[in-house]
Amino acid sequence: MSFQTSADASLPVGIFDSGVGGLTVASAIRRRLPAERLLYLGDLARQPYGPKSARTVARYAVNAAEFLVRRGIKALVVACNTASAVALDPIIGVVEAGAAGAARRSVTGQIVVAATEGTCRSGAYERAIARRRTDSHVTCIPCPLFVALAEEGLTDGPIVTAVARHYLGAALAAGDNADCLVLGCTHFPLLAPALARLAGPGVQLVDCAEVTAELLTEALAGPLAAPPTQTGGLTLIATDAPDRFARIAQKLFPTLDGLPPVELADL
Ligand code: DGL
Repeated sequence: MSFQTSADASLPVGIFDSGVGGLTVASAIRRRLPAERLLYLGDLARQPYGPKSARTVARYAVNAAEFLVRRGIKALVVACNTASAVALDPIIGVVEAGAAGAARRSVTGQIVVAATEGTCRSGAYERAIARRRTDSHVTCIPCPLFVALAEEGLTDGPIVTAVARHYLGAALAAGDNADCLVLGCTHFPLLAPALARLAGPGVQLVDCAEVTAELLTEALAGPLAAPPTQTGGLTLIATDAPDRFARIAQKLFPTLDGLPPVELADL
């Protein structure tokens, strides 16, 4: 399914996720493309996407994309692995970005992907990595509680460490030869320090946010780039609990200080 975005360079880039996770992608985009205006939708009313069926997530993703297109955008970034894995092609999605990063960085080809249930069930990472590296062996592990921890603003400490060990301890155990851990859900980079400690120095963490920002930079090079006089900005919209969304977003991303209030919208 593809969506008709506009060729007007002054329009914002639309970004969506089920909640605060996609802000990891929005932040990476802001660092690379400070003059771009970003319109971010967090579908809090219907999160989490991870445990839901592919059919339901596809419907949610189409609603979110259509909403952003109606508001007027020049490009659409699906900052949600679960939605990228089951719907919405061809646009800038985080699964292809994460797979490209892992295929490039892994030496042994043994790659662990931490993701939601929906992303693991779809097999999207296995396919996307295999297209780039035939010698790879990918183990996708569902880590649903990581989403709840991030949405709670609980990103490190003994609870996070225990949950991380519960999900990933065995797959990352020494002797298994995995040298790459893909953070295959945009909420997971928020837990990166705890995950890096568990993984140890021999395992690189791949964050799809940076690679996604790189892909967007390429896509916007030329006539779609923000006009030179434009000042960038970030507008946040939530489908529920805008105050809660604002509070957690500010806690997790202190650099977002000075944002206008989060808008409430029905899709
Ligand atoms: N952040 C999303 C992802 O990348 C979805 C998390 C969720 O809602 O379960 O998959």
